[in-house]
Amino acid sequence: MGNVPVLNIADPALIKTLLVKDFHLFPNRTKLRPSSNAITTQNLNQLSGDDWKRVRSIVSPTFSSGKMRKMYPRFRECLTDFMRHLDGIARTGQTIDLWKAFDDFAIDVIATTVFATKIDTYKSRDNRFVVNARQKFSFNLIQAMAGIMLPKFLSQWLKVTDPKSNEFFIDTVRHIIGQRKEMGTGQKYNDFVQLLMDAKLRDIKDRKMMQDDVDDHVDEGDEESEIRRKVLDINYARKQLTENEVIAQAFVFLLAGYFTTFSALAYFTYELALNPLIQQKLYDEINGAIDSDGEIPYDVLTRLPYLEAVFAESLRLHSGALPLARLATTDYKLGDTGITIKAGQQIEIPIYAMHLSEHYFPDPYKFDPGRFMPENKHKIKPYTYLPFGAGPRNCIGMRFALIEIKICMAHLIRRYRFYRCPQTDVPIEYKRFIHVMLPKRLVVGFEKRIQ
Ligand code: HEM
Repeated sequence: MGNVPVLNIADPALIKTLLVKDFHLFPNRTKLRPSSNAITTQNLNQLSGDDWKRVRSIVSPTFSSGKMRKMYPRFRECLTDFMRHLDGIARTGQTIDLWKAFDDFAIDVIATTVFATKIDTYKSRDNRFVVNARQKFSFNLIQAMAGIMLPKFLSQWLKVTDPKSNEFFIDTVRHIIGQRKEMGTGQKYNDFVQLLMDAKLRDIKDRKMMQDDVDDHVDEGDEESEIRRKVLDINYARKQLTENEVIAQAFVFLLAGYFTTFSALAYFTYELALNPLIQQKLYDEINGAIDSDGEIPYDVLTRLPYLEAVFAESLRLHSGALPLARLATTDYKLGDTGITIKAGQQIEIPIYAMHLSEHYFPDPYKFDPGRFMPENKHKIKPYTYLPFGAGPRNCIGMRFALIEIKICMAHLIRRYRFYRCPQTDVPIEYKRFIHVMLPKRLVVGFEKRIQ
């Protein structure tokens, strides 16, 4: 098996068959990865088969739009602190390193919404949460990403676990769970530890209603929704997560939801700095959406077409260069290609290459949000735009990411203007590494708008 090459697949029809229809033959690639910590391996990303189905069915409703709506004020709180910090930077300088700035913000959001922990990430850099998160993600950023996305052989090579910071996060969640149990059910918390503790597998008919409530950032269509429903329509005796399973999910939300969101925010802002007309058009849309308190209601934010389109285009150009990967569990004949994928062989879908193929996206290097506007979106060939993956095993945190990024960008664009300055690298220069693209720096000019 060690000698079997990874097979790269970039054909949309085959991708659909593999990720959506026959996905059970291709569980997540991490199945066979050894790990030093039995607790953290119970996370969604590493589970497979019935264990994965059970946990995914229980956890999915914690990302429903109703739950996100309740969490909305938490994102807003984090944003208030972030903008206070940015105001300070704007008073003393005219440039901002987007990579660093959004890293701070994303840690705060994860600490608040997942770990129920309020940290002052901008002032107290020696806060234990921040230190441990950074320790895991500065040098270990690469390793963490490997833990989530990279093929098995690479992550084995990189030895993804960092026992000390793992222990810190495990202890943190265990402590919160203990406190919540002591306090009883009187008090309600809108964070993931609580949502995961309360999560209970619903009846199948209730699950059907819940799964209809999906975002259309990546339009999965009726067939895919139906398959997802069938895959998860199973009843299990154990309807709730154990304490260790709660910890493992919080842990994977940190791994999967931190780098992905801060890098997406940084690239989004970088593109706005380079494209002033697009920035102005977005500014106009957002200004038209503000209510009398200067806020953007949840329902309005989620339906702003230009904001959605600019974000989608930014994710197309900057998908992080990670291929989607799957592992075959049985020998599998690949359509009418004459190729048989052997059991144990890995396939990869090179989303970065597909997003930048002129075959699928005319003038692919042009930043053109118009491609994703409602009047054009249907022209995009299904399964060529895959920033959140596809099929039953796609990104469970997509809605969370969309809300975090949209609320953040909407308020930032209203308050600041971003522009290209002498330190802005065009094109972006990347550090040398495999699979993950890390810019050397992402600096733009910025100033506070007069309000
Ligand atoms: C812009 C932000 C994000 C991007 C681009 C992104 C992208 C992805 C991709 C490409 C996958 C693999 C999908 C596949 O193999 O088909 C994935 C899986 C996953 N993501 Fe995200 N993600 C983002 C944010 C988040 C957030 C905020 C969370 C949690 C709070 C999260 C949690 C997960 C989990 C748990 C999985 C594994 C799901 C499973 O195996 O059932 N992600 N994500």
